[in-house]
Amino acid sequence: MSRKTLLHIDSSARRTGSESRCLSRRFVRQWIDSHPDYQVVERDLASKPLPHLDETMLEAMQRPAEQHTPEMARISERIGMLVEEFLSADVVVLGVPMYNLGIPSTLKAYIDHIAIAGRTFAYTEQGPVGLVTDRPVYIITARGGLHTGRETDQQSPYLKSLFSFLGLNNLNFIHSEGLNMGEEARRKGLQGAQDEIGRHAA
Ligand SMILES: Cc1cc2nc3c(=O)[nH]c(=O)nc-3n(C[C@H](O)[C@H](O)[C@H](O)COP(=O)(O)O)c2cc1C
Repeated sequence: MSRKTLLHIDSSARRTGSESRCLSRRFVRQWIDSHPDYQVVERDLASKPLPHLDETMLEAMQRPAEQHTPEMARISERIGMLVEEFLSADVVVLGVPMYNLGIPSTLKAYIDHIAIAGRTFAYTEQGPVGLVTDRPVYIITARGGLHTGRETDQQSPYLKSLFSFLGLNNLNFIHSEGLNMGEEARRKGLQGAQDEIGRHAA
C-alpha cells in the first residue's frame, strides 16, 4: 500500500491549553482513522520557529547558488527542505489562532519560506501563476471573538488569496469562534468546529 502524506502545521504560541492545536490534532486523528494509508508529517512553528525575512534571506532567494555565502547556502537549504515538504503533502492541515485579527507571525515566516518564485509560483507575462498542484488544505482557526463574514476577519481572505496564488483552491476553513466570550459561546464555538471536523475528516 503506497503511503500518502498529511502535513500537519501548528502555529499557536501556546503548547498547553491551545484550542487550535487541540482541534487540528482531532482532525488529524480522525483523518488517519478513516484514511489508514496516510502518514503524518508534523511541523510545529512554535517549538521550531523559522527566521523572519531579512536581507540575507532575500539575497539567498534571488542570487544563483554559486554566488551564495555559507549563510545563504544554509538558508537556501532550509527553504528547499520546507518547499519539498510542502509539495510532498497530499493533504495539508493548519492550526491557526487569531492574533490581532491576523495569523501568527510564525506562520507568516513559514509562508515566506514556501512562497518561492520558480518553485511554488512563477511570474509570467499574464501575471503570476501558481505552480502547486491542487490538493485539499484544511485551515482550522481559533478565535476569541466572532469574525466570520466580518471585516475583522483578516485571516481567511489573506490565506485564501495566498494559497490560490500558489495554485491551491481546494481550501476548507473550519472556524472555532467566540472562545473568549463566556462559557456558553465557547462551548458552542468548539462544538461547531468539532462537528465540521467530523464532516471533513471522516
Ligand atoms: C496576542 C493575542 C492576540 C489575540 N488577538 C485576537 C483578536 O484579534 N481577535 C480575537 O477574536 N481573538 C484574539 N485573541 C484570542 C485568541 O484568538 C484565542 O485565545 C485563541 O483560542 C488562541 O488560539 P489557541 O487557543 O490555539 O492558542 C488573541 C490572543 C492573543 C494571545
